[in-house]
Amino acid sequence: MTLTPADIWAAADYAPTAERLAPASTVLAQVIAELTPGAHVADIGAGHGHTSHALLDIGARVTAIEPVERMRIEGMRQVPQAQWINATGEDTGLPEGDVDAVASSFGTMFCDPNTGPAEWARILRPGGVLAMTVWNEHGFLAEMTDRMTAVTSPGAPTRPPHMLWGDAEVACERLDGAFVDLTLEQHILPWCFDSVEHGMELYLHGSPTHTFSLAAAGERANDLLAALRGHLQEHADDDGRIRAQTGYTVLTARRV
Ligand SMILES: C[S@@+](CC[C@H](N)C(=O)[O-])C[C@H]1O[C@@H](n2cnc3c(N)ncnc32)[C@H](O)[C@@H]1O
Repeated sequence: MTLTPADIWAAADYAPTAERLAPASTVLAQVIAELTPGAHVADIGAGHGHTSHALLDIGARVTAIEPVERMRIEGMRQVPQAQWINATGEDTGLPEGDVDAVASSFGTMFCDPNTGPAEWARILRPGGVLAMTVWNEHGFLAEMTDRMTAVTSPGAPTRPPHMLWGDAEVACERLDGAFVDLTLEQHILPWCFDSVEHGMELYLHGSPTHTFSLAAAGERANDLLAALRGHLQEHADDDGRIRAQTGYTVLTARRV
């Protein structure tokens, strides 16, 4: 069965996760402001629009690409000043060379690693900028992904493809041919919860990927919940609070 983005991203309310990721949108918009001020930017996987909003704040013209209706409705409500398009990052429908920059906060990382970069290269003008935030191998979320994979795909040799963009060799290979001047800059997001229960609440009701994974796990769902709870418990301080950090990478490259 082929999954569509909606199968995963419409599975639950995304708002609590969006709030956690919002600081990365500000960082990404600043990168765009420095590399290509006053640009026309395609925000791929725009979600609820945090990145689009940050890009508008730095004076960009924004085309927000979001294939999932549940996400897009909320994004259009929050950021009506962007032009919203129902399309995937692998097939945006934008004209060739239409944009000065492709920006994405944790969106392009979910595109197919072959057809995605080819489409971003197609819509970028020569010399245009690709800037995307991606999870890397450091901190809470990389650990959590490993714990989940150990339950859902025991013995799987590596992390899933979307978690590999932070590896310079992998990124270089995926962008080879159409992009040059690859840079990878490490950043940190605080990843805190008032308690283990507060963390479980996010997984159960505020994170589409977790709701999807739990449904897909079938009879392993309880093992998956136990792994997620155990991971939160490992990070809890004596007062029960979780004060963790998760690493992410800002990847930039230029269209040849
Ligand atoms: C982690 S959310 C990020 C949303 C937003 N950029 C943010 O920072 O909050 C991932 C987003 O990518 C979208 N997405 C998933 N697969 C996609 C694809 N193939 N093409 C475009 N967007 C996709 C999802 O619908 C979702 O809105």
